[in-house]
Amino acid sequence: MKLILLGAPGAGKGTVAKMLTDIDGSVQISTGDILRAAVKEGTELGKQAEAYMKAGDLVPDELIMGIMEQRLQEPDCANGFLLDGFPRTIPQAEQLKALMDKLGIKLDMAVNLEVPREVILDRLTTRRTCTNCGAIYNVKSAPPKVEGVCDKCGGSVVQRDDETEEAISNRLDVYNEKTAPLVEFYRNEGLLLDVNATSSDEVVKTIKARLAG
Ligand code: AP5
Ligand code: ZN
Repeated sequence: MKLILLGAPGAGKGTVAKMLTDIDGSVQISTGDILRAAVKEGTELGKQAEAYMKAGDLVPDELIMGIMEQRLQEPDCANGFLLDGFPRTIPQAEQLKALMDKLGIKLDMAVNLEVPREVILDRLTTRRTCTNCGAIYNVKSAPPKVEGVCDKCGGSVVQRDDETEEAISNRLDVYNEKTAPLVEFYRNEGLLLDVNATSSDEVVKTIKARLAG
């Protein structure tokens, strides 16, 4: 499957993407994960992205498009991909469309994960992430078996740098201003699927039903 996962921070894009890769082997491409890895490794990209991320601001479009143009041409994308956290601005969506036309890739749909704001705030303050493999946990709904230790790889499970109250509030404002307009963009393209994302299992079921039918 070739999907875009749209939704506010904490809507569950990463969680749903991981569930979908388990089904058919499509790869999850998370620009957030790519950027966090670059920051951790101290690469040039990481150095450029770090301050924006920590404040909850978007990294400049040119940096993201450079990464994604390369990433979408890697061989593992041929079977399908789940774009998690990209595109995030109208210019990114327009450039992605042009890139896909150039590469002859056809998108199945853009899924809009809808979750009430109070649920989002609760999820973001209780999320924990593995610093090694990126596995997503939640102290309330999905804790690791041993506190602070990843079930999958034994890495340490911590709160992200952009999980301060101030950064979360900025990320939600940035989402409303820059990313929410993509919902109408993909509706106009005839590719939008709105789903209630309170339950990730229901999201996966709805996507599978739409792909089958
Ligand atoms: P990114 O990593 O993409 O962060 P985000 O969009 O803010 O999304 P999150 O990862 O916070 O949330 P999610 O929707 O994946 O939710 P999750 O599944 O973890 O981006 C980080 C930063 O990188 C940006 O601020 C920006 O600086 C930069 N960046 C990235 N891409 C960019 C781009 N394209 N352009 C420019 N800059 C870019 O779930 C959240 C929590 O809820 C977890 O604890 C999970 O366990 C729990 N949960 C999920 N679903 C459920 C459920 N159904 N029931 C109960 N709990 C649930
Ligand atoms: Zn791990």
